Amino acid sequence: MSKNIAIDGPAGAGKSTIARMLAEKLGLVYVDTGAMYRTMALLCLRRSVSLASEEEVVDAVLQAEIRLGYEDGVQQVILNGENVTEAIRSPEVSAAASRVSVYGPVRSRLVRMQQELAKETDVVMDGRDIGTVVLPDAFLKVFLTASPAERARRRAQELRAKGESCDEAKIEAEIRERDARDMNREISPLKQAEDAERVDTTRMTIEEVVACVTALYQKKTER
Ligand code: DC
Repeated sequence: MSKNIAIDGPAGAGKSTIARMLAEKLGLVYVDTGAMYRTMALLCLRRSVSLASEEEVVDAVLQAEIRLGYEDGVQQVILNGENVTEAIRSPEVSAAASRVSVYGPVRSRLVRMQQELAKETDVVMDGRDIGTVVLPDAFLKVFLTASPAERARRRAQELRAKGESCDEAKIEAEIRERDARDMNREISPLKQAEDAERVDTTRMTIEEVVACVTALYQKKTER
């Protein structure tokens, strides 16, 4: 029986940090699905594709070759032979990823890839629709949340640690805008699966969240 873990939630709730640590702790492969949507967004931005045009976006996405690899356990994304792992982390790409991810053919291509990956090996997969669409039979489903203000505070802290200046109020506004688009899109909107465990991380440390999800996983394993 597969032991896949699905982690969903809004931007900045700590999904990727938690998923990466859990994967390492439990010996599973971490799959960051947001990175796949980001890669498609980067491709569209580089080609000056109009993000408002479904036809243009889908055309570009269906022609692209995307692969995931691992270096020292860290996921790398390869777009048409180029490693774009770093390039997909800019704020422009974040906003564009949320826009290209509304289109059905973009989603179905990436969802198919994600399902194939989870068939090959047990994964901790994070995203917006993992528990609802990609892995509806996941062994454990977690919905991670935190208040928008707290998520903006964490993002700002991350940027400051990298020596970058930032405006926390602007980050919060961008987070709220992305939440609204991700939750209100027609296809596979961000929502908690009925059988997912909700974990509000607003007042929790990373270690506490990892311990909490590990306990949920172990409780299921013992059943
Ligand atoms: O998790 P992230 O911030 O890297 O995701 C970037 C965008 O990609 C997010 O705003 C919505 C989209 N996304 C999605 O629609 N479905 C997923 N499974 C993962 C991400």
